[in-house]
Amino acid sequence: MSTHADLTARAAALVEEMTLEEKASLTSGRDFWHTKGVERLGLVPLMLTDGPHGLRKQAGASDHLGLNSSVPATCFPPAANLGSTWDPELVREIGVALGEETKANGVAVLLGPGTNIKRSPLCGRNFEYFSEDPLLSGELAAALVDGVQSQGVGASLKHFAANNQETDRMRVDARIDERTLREIYLPAFETTVRKAQPWTVMCSYNKVNGTYASQNRELLTQILREEWGFEGLVVSDWGAVDQRIPALEAGLDLEMPASGGRTDAQIVRAVREGELDESVLDAAATRIVTMILRAAGTPAREDFDASAHHELARRAAAAGSVLLRNEEAEGGDALPLRPSSFTEDNPLVLIGEFARTPRYQGAGSSQVNPIRLDTVLDSLRARLGEEAVAFAPGFHLAEAAGVQDQDGTADLDPRELRENAVALAEGRTAVLFLGLPAKKEAEGYDRTDISLPAEQIELLRAVSEAASLSIVVLSNGSAVEVESWERLANALLEAWLGGQGAGSAIADMLLGDLAPEGRLAESLPAELAQVPAQLNFPGEAGVVEYGERIFVGYRGLDAMNAPVAHPFGSGLGYTRFDLEIRSIPERLDARGTADGDILGSIRVRVTNLGERAGAEIVQLYVGRESPSGIARAPRSLAGFAKLRLEAGESREIDLPITRRALSHWDAAAHGWAVEEGRWILAVGEHSRDSRHAVAVEVLADAAHPELVDHSTLAEWTRHPLGRPLLEAHAPGLTALAEDPEIGEMMGAMPLVRLSRFPGMPITEAQYEAMVAELPARGA
Ligand code: BGC
Repeated sequence: MSTHADLTARAAALVEEMTLEEKASLTSGRDFWHTKGVERLGLVPLMLTDGPHGLRKQAGASDHLGLNSSVPATCFPPAANLGSTWDPELVREIGVALGEETKANGVAVLLGPGTNIKRSPLCGRNFEYFSEDPLLSGELAAALVDGVQSQGVGASLKHFAANNQETDRMRVDARIDERTLREIYLPAFETTVRKAQPWTVMCSYNKVNGTYASQNRELLTQILREEWGFEGLVVSDWGAVDQRIPALEAGLDLEMPASGGRTDAQIVRAVREGELDESVLDAAATRIVTMILRAAGTPAREDFDASAHHELARRAAAAGSVLLRNEEAEGGDALPLRPSSFTEDNPLVLIGEFARTPRYQGAGSSQVNPIRLDTVLDSLRARLGEEAVAFAPGFHLAEAAGVQDQDGTADLDPRELRENAVALAEGRTAVLFLGLPAKKEAEGYDRTDISLPAEQIELLRAVSEAASLSIVVLSNGSAVEVESWERLANALLEAWLGGQGAGSAIADMLLGDLAPEGRLAESLPAELAQVPAQLNFPGEAGVVEYGERIFVGYRGLDAMNAPVAHPFGSGLGYTRFDLEIRSIPERLDARGTADGDILGSIRVRVTNLGERAGAEIVQLYVGRESPSGIARAPRSLAGFAKLRLEAGESREIDLPITRRALSHWDAAAHGWAVEEGRWILAVGEHSRDSRHAVAVEVLADAAHPELVDHSTLAEWTRHPLGRPLLEAHAPGLTALAEDPEIGEMMGAMPLVRLSRFPGMPITEAQYEAMVAELPARGA
């Protein structure tokens, strides 16, 4: 296969042969889903389509909102579920399957994954994103891209950047300070670019600090290409280009969809009139031709194994389902259920329309036309026998109006629906399928609350009083409030939106043939008011201030010690694990190291204490023990590993500690920095698990802020150039700064001000003499 450099060289040679018009024409779409080609040079148009969790190839009418139908494709679990798998290997496998389907359909680029951070549970499109944590989001997005691209098609990493809400998404200005942008909102993109080199990156609709992402040179060129080494092309989100020339200059290569030739003509005119440097256009055209050559260089594919993909989708649905609660019931845990106990006389009672009309993906551009669709109701009936499973819809669901018409429940009012369900559940085991109706969360708008519909809670209250055992299974694309009602249930399974195989996967989890293996990739707050972003979401008057700064999700909840229903990273399974730290590095020495280096590792022994095989996700968090000079989250995820262990099995794993995990973004120096001192390494099962925490000394190159006009006495005293000057010119002052009684107060005073006080061991003239001896600024 040709290397990127070969392809680029061939592309550049072809671009040299093109007319100005031909080059310009390449930089926008031919129609909704295709790029243009240059026929006389043998360059064919390419098709790009959504994404991310299945192929949405529209053969007929086109749209970017999921309105018109598309060819059947496997609907894998959306990112809400995949995020909870914490399993890059599995996500890569899904990427491979997605790549096969993309290739078999003659599509060149799959528009995904989306790896924006879940800043607030209210974001209507959270179901398409992995996590509130940048490290986890980045590892999973990189795995997906790697899998997709292994099949000779491209991925599109989106939406770059800071697209964390749907409200006013095409205009809103996301105002984010530099440190927060670097530590929270960019790393998932950075990891994916560095590890997996997506063929394309899709810029977002919104503005970032005043400039549209599509026209943001700092993002699209300086950070993406120059810093991270991105080699692919930047494509606009559909309709994200506001002004074509500034966008091209900023690094936006391909505008989608078609502009009807309008913007191509603008480019031609700008070059002719000397307003646009032709080399900028050449660079964009070369990147587009490189992609055309790359796509042409991989063999076509006839078909794919739809059954194998369905099985993979099923397996993933269970891997991303999170068991949040599993009380002891008679003779063991509430879940899994014992299949043999359900008969015609004592059926298993399923309540809730979702058992029959599953909600398995979200609405909008990612909506896939599934090849098959499993329902829990059919799957359990097939497994236990038609008569051993009873069903009552329990509530109305707009998307189920048709089936409810057919079985006559459409005419019942909510009370009647509830009473029917209660009558069925009396004295029996009831599984309630609750969740968010499709209308509640979708691309294009945000939620305004995180509650389940009130009638569903009422239903649960009534059923849980009547039933001998109540299990709740949730279908939703982002966090819902469970704190006020979860104790009504003996077990609670968060199944998210799980794709086309979720129905049978849930049936298998209920009966114990599959175990839920997921851990929360987003916190479940006790209530919406606790969410750190809440005071600034979704902004006003066209601006959203990211006022909580780095304190997103668990970082903020943990810092405020806010009550949560279930912390980030948590989840049960059908077995239990013991963790034991076996060895830690004596110290971590970051001196002279570079970003990306590994400083040491921590060895952990993991033991499956239960009676069945299961999967554990070991998480490593870092935080400060020594006081810190900057605002910090108590714990930030620094690494994780998923492992499957047989009953009773033990294994040891090493979790590497990277320099980046200990770094903060120093906005003054515009770079990553490590703070020395004592750090805590916590290995555990969620962000609040402090059972296995150890302190370790971190050595780092000391960072000294430059001495400036109003540097304090303490800053002078600590500075390697300042201290000798102080000792030479005003020896009494260092003693004052270190005085146990008044040192702290004196140290906080700007030295110049201090020199103006009468009776101080320094005069203003001495101060000025010292300043004169400092090397010139910037020297
Ligand atoms: C979405 C993108 C999608 C594109 C094409 C846009 O509305 O934001 O995620 O890839 O449409 O359908």
